[in-house]
Amino acid sequence: MAEEIKTFQVTIDNITIDVPAGTTVLNAARKIGGDVAPPAMCYYSKLQGSGGKCRTCLVEVAAGSTADPRPMPKLVPSCRTNVMDGMVVKNITSDRVKDARAGVVEFLLLNHPLDCPICDQAGECHLQDLGYEHGKEGTRYEFPRRTFEKEDIGPYIQLHMTRCILCYRCTYVADQLTNKRVHGILDRGEHAEISTYISKAIENDFSGNMIDVCPVGALTDKTFRFKNRVWFTKPVDAHRNCETPGCCGKTTLWLRGDEVYRVTARKDEWGEVQSYDGKPGWICNTCRFDKKKTGDWVIEGVTKINRHSVISQGQYEGLVIPKETIREVMGGRSPRLLMDIHNESEVNDPAIHLSEINGPAHSEDFVAPNPKGELFGEYTDRGEQIMSVHKKD
Ligand code: SF4
Ligand code: FES
Repeated sequence: MAEEIKTFQVTIDNITIDVPAGTTVLNAARKIGGDVAPPAMCYYSKLQGSGGKCRTCLVEVAAGSTADPRPMPKLVPSCRTNVMDGMVVKNITSDRVKDARAGVVEFLLLNHPLDCPICDQAGECHLQDLGYEHGKEGTRYEFPRRTFEKEDIGPYIQLHMTRCILCYRCTYVADQLTNKRVHGILDRGEHAEISTYISKAIENDFSGNMIDVCPVGALTDKTFRFKNRVWFTKPVDAHRNCETPGCCGKTTLWLRGDEVYRVTARKDEWGEVQSYDGKPGWICNTCRFDKKKTGDWVIEGVTKINRHSVISQGQYEGLVIPKETIREVMGGRSPRLLMDIHNESEVNDPAIHLSEINGPAHSEDFVAPNPKGELFGEYTDRGEQIMSVHKKD
């Protein structure tokens, strides 16, 4: 007889679900989805031992369990706390959590440079998203920021140590995916840094996966650096018959026209590599760095982008709208919209599909046609054009 799986009932932000015993609060919240799931900068479900470093996933436990309903005195990291039967957790419904998370973001940004305009991770950086949600425009930090000697860690990966938040994910990739780990975290405290042992290059078949797990722009793809912005590229799902053991061969190609600018593993809605048949979809360096022609790949179709990120603003075909949980969290009441951006601005017109535009999008692509559907734009009294003119068919 099959063994019965014990389940626990947990309530997170007023939404109750049953999960198997041993599930963490973070994974229970991810099962609910939407904004109820706390952000995670260091936890990565496909890397054993990850989590517990960054404190962005803190939640409030308002009742520990049915057996002991006392609240937990301190906020707890949801990636390292298992659910108990009858537990009541508050994430976005807790002011304490929002306040603490803003503090954590402030700490993470103490030494992190605000170089998003030139950073290749911009548009898909989890710290950038967090900063916009919780950040403050000012800083209280008065001391010189950490700087590091530049270090070359090989032909494929660029290390920008000033951007590193010491989440340890890349060292877990090195430990768990490659057979020759040559890098790690050296020194401690303020001096802690990612480095290779006596300036060795990182060379092994799966080292490129460190780029995919890095939540910020500390590890970026040297073959893609400064070549394009992710929101100007068009992501498509593709696969090839890769013979490297351990490589799933399923990737996302980031195209501009027919040119493949970058190859990455496919990501899920939490920004982690997708799983296939219960195994993480890591890809090898040959697929990532050497197969840069569309002819090397079988293209399956436009990638479904479903994260709250600037990339999804491209209105790609098949865009998956993230699960909306606010109504349930608010006990069935809908939030009151103070302003609908589509009514206020011509940018982000939901009728415009970037994936149908040939080539990169320009500002003119977002300007709505005038009522006559002819030339349009804004003109001064003397007829000089202020805004660009664009004719729609
Ligand atoms: S380099 Fe990136 S993945 Fe590695 S510890 Fe730093 S932030 Fe994390
Ligand atoms: S994601 Fe939980 S502590 Fe970093």
